[in-house]
Amino acid sequence: MDRFQIRGGKPLHGTVTISGAKNSALPAMAAALLTAEPVTLHNIPMVRDIITMARLLAFMSARVTTTDFPAADYTIEAATLNGAVAPYELVKTMRASILTLGPAVARAGIAHVSLPGGCSIGARPVDLHVAALAKMGAEISTDHGYIRAKAPGNGRLKGAHIIFEKITVTGTENLLMAATLAEGETNLENCAREPEVTDLIHLLRKMGAEIHGDDTSTLRIRGVEKLHGAIHSVIPDRIEAGTFLVAGAITGGDLTITNCAPAHLGAVIAKLEKAGAPIETPNATTLRVRGTKALAAADVTTEEYPGFATDMQAQYMALATQAEGTSVITETIFENRFLHASEMMRMGANISIEGRRAVVRGPAKLTGTTVQASDLRASAGLVLAGLVASGETIIDRVYHIDRGYERIVEKLQAVGADIERLHSKDG
Ligand code: EPZ
Repeated sequence: MDRFQIRGGKPLHGTVTISGAKNSALPAMAAALLTAEPVTLHNIPMVRDIITMARLLAFMSARVTTTDFPAADYTIEAATLNGAVAPYELVKTMRASILTLGPAVARAGIAHVSLPGGCSIGARPVDLHVAALAKMGAEISTDHGYIRAKAPGNGRLKGAHIIFEKITVTGTENLLMAATLAEGETNLENCAREPEVTDLIHLLRKMGAEIHGDDTSTLRIRGVEKLHGAIHSVIPDRIEAGTFLVAGAITGGDLTITNCAPAHLGAVIAKLEKAGAPIETPNATTLRVRGTKALAAADVTTEEYPGFATDMQAQYMALATQAEGTSVITETIFENRFLHASEMMRMGANISIEGRRAVVRGPAKLTGTTVQASDLRASAGLVLAGLVASGETIIDRVYHIDRGYERIVEKLQAVGADIERLHSKDG
């Protein structure tokens, strides 16, 4: 497995360009199952999860074409759906495969999707997706680790009034897609309001869907008989942009971040400014952060959008290790999302975990050592810690980071980081 080797202590200077949002591209690709016509997507990040989704859609008999592989542009054409089986071998590597469930049962009247199983940050059940589809008349059975969903009698789901017990991003996206082809009107309440949900609404509307309530927690969808093809460019990745904001702040550098959406990072920018990192927004697609040695501790609680994103928690923890004072980080979304803390402690961070709270005391002098990545965003947190640690940090299992960060080594090298990818024969 590949590893990263980082020699820390170098302030980052220069400009980094943000790629398209993985968490917008994945539902957009799944949405192509809703029509027999081609859907062309631009600004798709070249990351492992996208390749997995492309393989999954091809397995479900969609035709997936790209300019080259991996690519930033995909055309997906699901002329027919062959019973739409999403196999465990693919689903186990990417939980977002569950996003094929709603579109497949809405379009083909039947879908067979492997249960994703848990992951290192939590059990991550899909009970809310299943319960909501059942309310739309889907006959759901789960056996041998698969969810089998069948539309009622005439093969069409029925519009329903659904209130999500908990806010779920992919649950909202799954039901939004399913409702576009249902008979009648669907009201979805307590929806996720992430920018990626709004981006999906924009794509579905281009495909002919009738949806109201963008950016709110209540979505109203009037089902239509058919959807048609569309062309859409996905939004920039706000978590990649947030990660680079922390990289500039933690290394005391001066980083300009282009092709991003500052409007999607309100809570993150406010928190980083409170921690002493001066952030400028020269225009609607650019951020600039000038790091400072005088980082100050600030508490943070992760929340659903527009609150502070859970996907930025590990990155913020790395920053908090360098801040003067005590920062209390409370993780409210996932039950086990502090795996990066123990690895940072091995580098010299002063962190104590009390259930869903991590208490970080700083500034702590971090020193390089070998650390283990455990999930996508924990890996990003460890890279940031390595950038500020003295000496050499080796990060194992960087396939986690390759799932969601396009060319992160090259992007960091281009702004002065001393980072190398150590290839190993097993990839
Ligand atoms: C999406 O995951 C993102 N993934 C995650 O990003 C992100 O961390 C998460 O939203 C929260 O923002 C994609 O968009 C592909 P949830 P999702 O359903 O939809 C519980 C990354 O790093 N829940 O909003 O799976 C769940 O266990 C990834 O890019 C149920 O109990 O998250 C969690 O505690 C990691 N039952 C909470 O809700 C359900 O049926 C929020 O989960 C569904 C969710």
